[in-house]
Amino acid sequence: MHPSTPETGRVLLVDDEAAFQRLGGNFLRSLGHEVDIAGDGDAALSRFAKQRPELVLLDLAMPPHRDPERGLELIPRLAGVPVVVLTGHGEHELALRAAELGAWDFITKPIDPDLLRFVVARALRKSRLDAELARLRAGQEFDESGLVGLTPPMQQLRAMVRRVAPTRVSVLVLGPTGTGKELVARALHEGSPRRDGPFVVVHCGALSAELLESELFGHMKGSFTGAYRDQPGLVEAAHGGTLFLDEVGEMPPPMQVKLLRFLQEGTFIPVGGRAQRQADVRVLSATHRDLEAMVREGGFREDLFYRLKGVILRTPALAERTADVPLLAARFLKGVAPQARFAAGALAWVTARGWPGNVRELKAIVESAGALLLPDQSEVDTELLTLAAGDGTEPRRTLEPPGGTGVLDAALNELERRLIQDAMSAAGGNQSEAARQLGVSRVGLIKKLTRLGLR
Ligand SMILES: Nc1ncnc2c1ncn2[C@@H]1O[C@H](COP(=O)(O)OP(=O)(O)OP(=O)(O)O)[C@@H](O)[C@H]1O
Ligand SMILES: [Mg+2]
Repeated sequence: MHPSTPETGRVLLVDDEAAFQRLGGNFLRSLGHEVDIAGDGDAALSRFAKQRPELVLLDLAMPPHRDPERGLELIPRLAGVPVVVLTGHGEHELALRAAELGAWDFITKPIDPDLLRFVVARALRKSRLDAELARLRAGQEFDESGLVGLTPPMQQLRAMVRRVAPTRVSVLVLGPTGTGKELVARALHEGSPRRDGPFVVVHCGALSAELLESELFGHMKGSFTGAYRDQPGLVEAAHGGTLFLDEVGEMPPPMQVKLLRFLQEGTFIPVGGRAQRQADVRVLSATHRDLEAMVREGGFREDLFYRLKGVILRTPALAERTADVPLLAARFLKGVAPQARFAAGALAWVTARGWPGNVRELKAIVESAGALLLPDQSEVDTELLTLAAGDGTEPRRTLEPPGGTGVLDAALNELERRLIQDAMSAAGGNQSEAARQLGVSRVGLIKKLTRLGLR
């Protein structure tokens, strides 16, 4: 066999029917593939581990009772190679479930040999490209998204990014300012087959409807004063790549109509032009505005909203994932001052401070604190951070118990902070009542509020 030639490779055939094992196996071998055969789930997993196939052909019906659930369970465990599922006629629902679990393609039995040959060849190509990509990425410490964060909302976001990036689906990224919406958009582009194509950002809020139209779709010479020559727009510049409509909530209504037409038909007409043009772009968009409310109130076209939100990804406010703050702070400090560390208590300060400007604000303050380090100084302490943050007049110093690691302090502060905030809002802002609920004196509560920067 020649498992390394482009057309042939190592195939694992999982099927409990002896007749198909023989027929399918012989057919694949006749095409030059190296074929391994398993008759049940256990055998499939052990062959998978040993043979390291480049692709798996899987009949879902598994012994003892030709149970397709057993076949479905196998799919996630055959990770890393394309799984082509063999289904019976009319088993659409099974096929869909298999796809959700990560199956790559299907063939319906009885199998058409030409189709089998084609699907196998295509799956092998994919398998090799994936392997090549993994090799290229390894060693570059390639963080597939650049999104720092280990809290559940961030893990979820990263998983969603990984999931939708390779598709053509339009993605709408919603979230407060400074929470990484643009970073998500870039990660979606980088994780897509268009990654070698352009990533073009359009700032929808910065321009009037007229200028935005010409910016997006281009204009013809003489179409308005100052249009001295034909000028292609950003849509054309993004051909073969990704068009990112940033601040899409600010798009003026007349422009919303024109954008919708482009999204529906894939064609557009430059300002002052007559002929329709085409561009192949994937559209991503983002806004910090509450777009759903804008749609309800008529400020944003509903039909456009539905076009943009093939999938909605939400970037969480930093307050919803305080545990990521130390991680982000450490990453940002390393970026500007690789040798520097946070002093004891400094990370607690960072974690306890509210971040209305979210990650962007955190990044700015940590980076300027890093830049304020003197040549013989290697620790960023609360004082430096307070200075960088401009919070100087009323320092929100957190306690720095001797020997504290910072991270524990931060966690405790955060817990205290939440309990206090809950009690305060339950008490309608009444400090005496909140203090009573918390079982502390009113003065004690005020001290805590001051220390945690909640006043
Ligand atoms: N999870 C994250 N990990 C690392 N860096 C992040 C993360 N989120 C945001 N950043 C950084 O914070 C800054 C702001 O992020 P970004 O511009 O993507 O925010 P945004 O949501 O688009 O904000 P706006 O609504 O104000 O446009 C950038 O420097 C970005 O690299
Ligand atoms: Mg942005």
